[in-house]
Amino acid sequence: MKIVRTVAEMRILARQWRREGRGIGFVPTMGYLHEGHLSLVRESKARTDVTVVNIFVNPTQFGPNEDFKKYPRDLEKDAAYLQAAGVDALFHPDAAEIYPPGYRTYVEVEGLQDKLCGRSRPGHFRGVATVVLKLFDIVGPDRAFFGAKDAQQVLIIRRMAVDLDLDVEVVTCPLVREPDGLALSSRNAYLGPAERKAALVLSTGLRWAEKAVAAGERDAGRLVAGIRSIIEAEPLARIDYVEAVDPETLDPAADLRGEVLVALAVFFGKTRLIDNVRLHL
Ligand code: PAJ
Repeated sequence: MKIVRTVAEMRILARQWRREGRGIGFVPTMGYLHEGHLSLVRESKARTDVTVVNIFVNPTQFGPNEDFKKYPRDLEKDAAYLQAAGVDALFHPDAAEIYPPGYRTYVEVEGLQDKLCGRSRPGHFRGVATVVLKLFDIVGPDRAFFGAKDAQQVLIIRRMAVDLDLDVEVVTCPLVREPDGLALSSRNAYLGPAERKAALVLSTGLRWAEKAVAAGERDAGRLVAGIRSIIEAEPLARIDYVEAVDPETLDPAADLRGEVLVALAVFFGKTRLIDNVRLHL
């Protein structure tokens, strides 16, 4: 596995693969890899000739009071996982390589970026869209793999790819959970033992919602209220939002019909976790 630290070197390598007619798969991450990330890597390996994984804790997607500085990092362990998974290149640039002095250009996906997580994390999706567009341009992938764990993120990336005529197929991969239901996340490392246990209310609430819908519930307000009451019964949980929305526009779903995305964000102490489920009615 090649470890690439500069934009210039990454471009040369990718260009060479393209000349050889090899399809490039790309998995952008912020590192501290877990099975969720590795499921994307496996999908890329299965569907493309060469796989590039990016590890870059992107400063522009963190708010001033968020966890950029203490975001977990372990490059050695990550590189070992990727090597074992048969990844061809790990792109790990410095912040100054991606945002050199004088940097001024940002991408905004209007409307979508301000809903759900965007409401409590202003500027977050602007940072995500910007770095992903830059990485797409540097790597030039045929396919890029994203997790359904970040449902709003992948919707925004898809919108950007369509709107800017990007020549890349955006692939959404299933959300991976721990055996007890907790969605895998690098931020789970922040949780103390009591918080880790308490965090199960997220998947419990969403599973309850799936069952309620299967049993005939069609009122979005009641569905959201039911999830909220399950989460609120846990004293360590503080709800940021719980919403049932149209998965394309992220506007609130009045009644439950067709495709519905139930998404939530909840704090446990300072740790903010997200989870979601897609309902097909
Ligand atoms: P990060 O949180 O490291 O996630 C990288 C990719 O892994 C994303 O596509 C995310 O949806 C996916 N992922 C994380 N947890 C997952 C899980 N439990 N199941 C399935 N997929 C999961 O998302 C980012 O980084 C950044 O915003 C990034 C896109 C790299 C831009 O900086």
